[in-house]
Amino acid sequence: MEKINCPLYPFYKVKTDDVCNENRQENIAILSRYANANIPNEYKDLYMSNSPVKEDQEDIYEILDSYVATFTKDIRIKNVYLYSQETGTGKTTTAIALLSEYIRRRFLYYAKQKVRIPETIGVFLDLNELQTKYNLASMSNSSEDMERIKNVIEFYQSVEMLVVDDVGVRSSTESFRSLIHSIINSRVSNGLPTIFTSNVEMESLTDIFDRRLYDRIRDQTLELTFKGQSKRGMR
Ligand SMILES: Nc1ncnc2c1ncn2[C@@H]1O[C@H](COP(=O)(O)OP(=O)(O)OP(=O)(O)O)[C@@H](O)[C@H]1O
Ligand SMILES: [Mg+2]
Repeated sequence: MEKINCPLYPFYKVKTDDVCNENRQENIAILSRYANANIPNEYKDLYMSNSPVKEDQEDIYEILDSYVATFTKDIRIKNVYLYSQETGTGKTTTAIALLSEYIRRRFLYYAKQKVRIPETIGVFLDLNELQTKYNLASMSNSSEDMERIKNVIEFYQSVEMLVVDDVGVRSSTESFRSLIHSIINSRVSNGLPTIFTSNVEMESLTDIFDRRLYDRIRDQTLELTFKGQSKRGMR
């Protein structure tokens, strides 16, 4: 059983009552990594094992279980592109389950190696929300706001793991798209993994960004197509 707010619980060999004590140093440290991940409230405490999507998308979850196993290996971690034309098939749910697995597994991986654990291990990026912030900053014409946006872009370029939710939205402006392009391009160049969700096929990145970016991503990305009709509101 997955204990709420105790992400490391499944990994303890000896599960004493104390392991989930909220004052335990390790729990404070891991929960601060989750707090820094910007996971929306409706998707909190989601892992691969308790994801409501798991049964419906069995084949995909089987592939993704092997993918999760790479998080603690010394190899380049691939990107994932979760696609379905239909909405509400569980893409964002799955992307966040993967992000949550990444955070706790990397945390343990670093702890084992006795190296410093980054304050932010992985983060969720809602493109619609960022676009709104960006619009406001460009409207206000304030150099402070633009500076803040620049820092935000640098942060997304360099964070270890990033979920880019809804990468296919076409309503975005040209200049905003070029910012997203620079985030993705920089991550690809530096071998940092990204998990995308989208309502358009991966090849459409050619139209949204450009062919070069698509070509660079393609080889290193696991593209998975979610089946079925919308399950929104079924839970
Ligand atoms: N296969 C499923 N079985 C049960 N519940 C599901 C399934 N797929 C999605 N859900 C539920 O439907 C809701 C929407 O799921 P989610 O946000 O992951 O969909 P999405 O594919 O990202 O949709 P969109 O394309 O609109 O972004 C969530 O509450 C989720 O728990
Ligand atoms: Mg979604």
